[in-house]
Amino acid sequence: MANLKQIEDATSTAGTRRAAKAETLAKRQLLVTAALPYANGPIHLGHLVEYIQTDIWVRFQKLRGHRCLFVCADDTHGTAIMLRAAKEGRSEIELIAETQQEHERDFAGFGIAFDHYGSTNSDENYELCKQFWASLRAAGLIVEREVSQLFDATAGTFLADRFVKGTCPRCKSPDQYGDNCDKCGATYSPADLIDPVSVHSGATPEVRSAPHLFVELEQLHAFLAEWTQSGEHLQTEVANYLKGHFLGEPLRDWDISRPAPYFGFEIPDSPGNYWYVWFDAPIGYIASTWQWCKQHGEDLNDWWKNPETEIHHFIGKDITYFHTLFWPGMLKTAGFTLPTKVHIHGFLNVAGEKMSKSKGTFIKAETYLQHLDPAFLRYYFASKLGPRLDDLDLNMDEFVNKINADLVGKVVNLASRSAKFAARTGLAEKYPDDGGLFKQAAAAGEDIAAAYEHCDYAKAMRLIMELADRANPYVENAQPWVLAKDPARTGELQAICTAALNLFRQLVVYLAPVLPRLAEQCGELLGEKIEHWSQSQEPLLGKSVNAFEHMLARVKKEDVDAMIEDSKEKEACSTSTPEVVGSGAVSGASDPWKDSAEPLQAEPLAETCSIDDFVKVDLRVARVLSAEHVPEARKLLKLTLSLGGDVQKTVFAGIKAAYEPEALVGRLVVCVANLAPRQMKFGLSEGMVTACGPGGAEVYLLSPDSGAKPGQRVH
Ligand code: 2FM
Ligand code: ZN
Repeated sequence: MANLKQIEDATSTAGTRRAAKAETLAKRQLLVTAALPYANGPIHLGHLVEYIQTDIWVRFQKLRGHRCLFVCADDTHGTAIMLRAAKEGRSEIELIAETQQEHERDFAGFGIAFDHYGSTNSDENYELCKQFWASLRAAGLIVEREVSQLFDATAGTFLADRFVKGTCPRCKSPDQYGDNCDKCGATYSPADLIDPVSVHSGATPEVRSAPHLFVELEQLHAFLAEWTQSGEHLQTEVANYLKGHFLGEPLRDWDISRPAPYFGFEIPDSPGNYWYVWFDAPIGYIASTWQWCKQHGEDLNDWWKNPETEIHHFIGKDITYFHTLFWPGMLKTAGFTLPTKVHIHGFLNVAGEKMSKSKGTFIKAETYLQHLDPAFLRYYFASKLGPRLDDLDLNMDEFVNKINADLVGKVVNLASRSAKFAARTGLAEKYPDDGGLFKQAAAAGEDIAAAYEHCDYAKAMRLIMELADRANPYVENAQPWVLAKDPARTGELQAICTAALNLFRQLVVYLAPVLPRLAEQCGELLGEKIEHWSQSQEPLLGKSVNAFEHMLARVKKEDVDAMIEDSKEKEACSTSTPEVVGSGAVSGASDPWKDSAEPLQAEPLAETCSIDDFVKVDLRVARVLSAEHVPEARKLLKLTLSLGGDVQKTVFAGIKAAYEPEALVGRLVVCVANLAPRQMKFGLSEGMVTACGPGGAEVYLLSPDSGAKPGQRVH
C-alpha cells in the first residue's frame, strides 16, 4: 500500500455525526396504499407503473427507518365480474379467489412487498361500509331518486356507459362507447347512441327506471374546496384541475346504489339495492388495514383515526375524481383520518402509443416475467417517474440501453471488477484515499432522499448514476486486474477493491428501494444486511468478502422480442369488455421497435431557411396548467400554459377532437412562445402549441422527454 495515502475520511467524527443525524430523524408512521386492482383481469405493465412506484416509496420510507404499512386488496364487486362469472358458468366467489391468487403471484414476481393484501369482498369491508353508510345517513347526505338507465334484458342487467356501444349521434362513427366518441370527441349519454347494443349480449338495450340512492356531495363543497386547494394534499395540477372542472359550480350528486342483480354488498336499509362498487372499493383500504391489525394485535384506530399517522394514496389519473372528492368527503363524514397526500401518476404508453393486444404491447405481468428480470422494469420505470402526471413511455430500445448501460455497465460493473480480488484480500481496515469519492457520494444522500420523498425517482436515479459515473473511472484507472498479477502490490489491490466495493455498496443502498434483489446480493457478498439508509454514510471495513456471484445479466433484445411476440393476441381482439381497465391501463398501439409504420404523407419539404430564420421562432417547453372546452367552439380547447416562473400564456388549440382536456393537465408541450397574440372570438390566444398529424382526431401534440422543465428553450 506504499503509494496510497490512508486517510481517515468517513470513519472519522464527520461520519459518526452523519449517522447520529440519521438516527435522530423523527420517526414517522405512514399508511400507504396503491389502487385496488379489479378482480376481473390480469395485472399488466400499465398497472405496474403504480405498484412499482408505490413499492419504491414504501421501501424508501422503511429504509429511512420509518414505520410504514403498505396495504392493498382486490377490488371484487360490480357488474363486470358478475357477468364474467355467469359467462364462465361459475360463482363470483370462485372467480375472484382465482384472480386474487394470480394477482398476488404477479405482484410477488415484481417484488411488490405489501404488508397485507386483502379483498373488498370481506367481512371487515362490509362492517366498515355499514359504518360509513350510517354516518352518511346521519349527516343527512343520502337522498333517493328515480333513474332511467339502459337495461340488457338478455343479460338481465343495467348497463354502465362503457358497456353500451353504438353509432355516435354527432359524427355518425360506428362502434363508439356510451359516454363519448373516440373519433369526434363528442360526449353524450348512452341513450343518445344510434342503434345501441349491449357489449355483453349484443342485445338492443331498453330504457328502464329504478330508484337509486345518491350522496349529496354539494353539502361538503366548502370542506372539499378547502381540502383540495390547501396546497398540501394534491399536486398543483390536480388541485387546479378540480378547481377548474368541479369546484367552480355545485357538485353533482353521486349515484351510490345499484339495483339487483349486482355482485356486491346489499344496502342494509334498502333491500334489493347494492352499494356501487366505487363506494366499497376505497373503504377496502381500511378493511385491508383492519385485517392486518387483527393478525398483528394492533388497533385500527392507531392507523385510521390518529392524526399522527400519515395516509398516502397512490393512484392513476383516471381515478382522480373518486379519490380527491368522494373519498375525502366520505372520510370526513365518517370521522376517519383524511389522506395526507394523494400521489397521482400518468398512464403508460409503449413507443409513444397506447398499448395494443394485437401488436403485442399489451404485456401481462406474467408474460414479462417469463422473459425478463423484474429488476429491469423497476429500474426503467424509476428512471422515468417524476412527481407530476405526465404519461410515461416505454420505449424498448431505450429500455435495453438503459439497463445495460446503467445497471450492468455502471453499477454491477464496480463489483464484478473488484469483488473476486477482494475475496482474496478482504476489506482494508482503513478507508483508502479515493480522491473524495465516498465522501461526495455520502453528501449526495440527502438530495437523493429528498427526490425519493417527492416521488421524483427520475431525479434520484440521475443523481445516483452521476455518482456511478465518477466511481467507474477510478476503478478503470487503478486496474485491479493488473495489480492482482503482482504479489508485491497486494496492499494496493486491497485498497482499490475496498474503495470500489464501498462505492458499489453506497450506490446499492441508494438503489435499494428500486432494486431490492440487488441489495440482497450486495448484502450476501459483504456479509451484512442492507437495511438502513445510514449505511450509505459509513464505509464497511476490515471484513472478509464472500465469493462473487453473478448479479445481473445484460438485457438481450431477442428476449424483449420474444416477450412482444408472446403478448400478441392471435385472434382479433373481442370487444366484449372495454380494454381500458383501471389505473394506467390503456389500449391500441404499433410495433414498439419502430416508429409508426404509417407512410408519410407526401407533403413537400418547405423552402430552406437559415439558422437566423429558425431562431426567430422561440419554442419553449410549457406545462399545461389547465385545459377546458370552449363551449361555442367546435375544434378548440382553451389551454393555460406555464412557461416557468410566473410566465403563463393562454392558448386556443384546435385539438378538441383528439384530446380530452383532463388528459392534458400536467403534461409538457412545446409552445411557440413569441407568436404575435391573436384576438379570437373566444378570447386572446397568446401562442401556439406544436402538433403534427392531418387534423381532426388525428392530431399529436409534441412533448419533450421527461426531465425537461417549463421555460426551457427548444433548440
Ligand atoms: O380503477 C381501478 O382499477 C379501481 N379498481 C381502483 C379502485 S381504488 C380504490 F378506491 F379502491
Ligand atoms: Zn363522433
